[in-house]
Amino acid sequence: MITPGFGKVAGCPKRALSAIEPRNVKRSEQSVAYDGIQLQLRELKDRDRLRSLRERAGVDFTSNDYLGLAESEELRSAAADAVTRGVPVGAGGSRLLRGNHAEHEALEAEAAACFGAEAALYFGAGYTANVAIFSTLPQRDDMVFHDELVHASVHEGMRHGRAERQSIPHNDTEALETRLRQWRKAGGRGRPWIAVESVYSMDGDSPNLADLIAVADRHDATLVIDEAHATGVKGPDGRGLAAAFEGRDNVITLHTCGKALGTSGGFVLGPKVIRDFLINRARPFIFATAPSPLIAAVTRAALRIARTRPERRERLASLVAYADREGIAGPLRTDLLAVAYPPHHRRRRSQGRGAGRQLAATRLRCAGDPAADGA
Ligand SMILES: Cc1ncc(COP(=O)(O)O)c(C=O)c1O
Repeated sequence: MITPGFGKVAGCPKRALSAIEPRNVKRSEQSVAYDGIQLQLRELKDRDRLRSLRERAGVDFTSNDYLGLAESEELRSAAADAVTRGVPVGAGGSRLLRGNHAEHEALEAEAAACFGAEAALYFGAGYTANVAIFSTLPQRDDMVFHDELVHASVHEGMRHGRAERQSIPHNDTEALETRLRQWRKAGGRGRPWIAVESVYSMDGDSPNLADLIAVADRHDATLVIDEAHATGVKGPDGRGLAAAFEGRDNVITLHTCGKALGTSGGFVLGPKVIRDFLINRARPFIFATAPSPLIAAVTRAALRIARTRPERRERLASLVAYADREGIAGPLRTDLLAVAYPPHHRRRRSQGRGAGRQLAATRLRCAGDPAADGA
């Protein structure tokens, strides 16, 4: 099976694409001001690190659509239903102005119930949600202890935040606790924040969350768990690996909607006071147009499907098993990364594990379900 959309953007044949290519672009004298930028691009190219955009083509080997929901009939019909009910496509403004819609609030209530948190706040992207968390919540005297492999969005948030930060060796809980002690001994007065992922996006491995919670408890810290690659896939009913610790007031989770849920956006889940503070202080929330109410409605359907239709997870698990048995996850992942990420972005450890196997299995499904016969 070829991925739908092959050779064309939906509803936009190739000819139409060329029609919207820019014409008559005049080179002004000022373009010399871009010399430095051109130089950097050339340097990237020389180092084989230049990225470019391509049309969708061929078999899907690079999306994170683990459950195959993004192009599913179920989500198409949820979108059609929402349109029929009159749900608007655009929010029209920030949620603090006119952009707040009942669909946002219904989705947040359902997400909070699903992930066992007191409250949820929905952002237009998981990236934005992470930036909001780390630029807003840690205060001036606080310290963020982050795993060395946390996502770029966490780094972006920390960069804009008030607290200082320390990088901790990957999945090394002992090193984390040692650093926490040292920080306090050296006069650290504020609150420690610990930033980890439940399934690491590049290596696919997981930390021991129970140990991390115990450390957080001992040191009065807040543990922020990014579940981007676990949402819909791992834990009871796809509720993530932090589901076992739901409802704790020193745990905040991030769940993304653009991967297994097949839509877009991200939730910050935790105590209500955290939601209230983000609404009042998080610049990415305050100064941005609210996410599409239509996508919020479809995401609600995606959450329900992910929770109540275990067969999609079982299918993924059988494909992961197939990939393992056939020994294709490792090499396949390497190939995938060669396409999806520039070489410097590739990690050296645990090829073919966790998210990598998940990824490979997703591609197998798209490539025509080789595991369908008795896998
Ligand atoms: C671990 C992790 N966190 C956050 C994000 C950002 O989520 P989104 O794609 O919804 O912006 C990603 C996406 O690549 C991710 O892998």
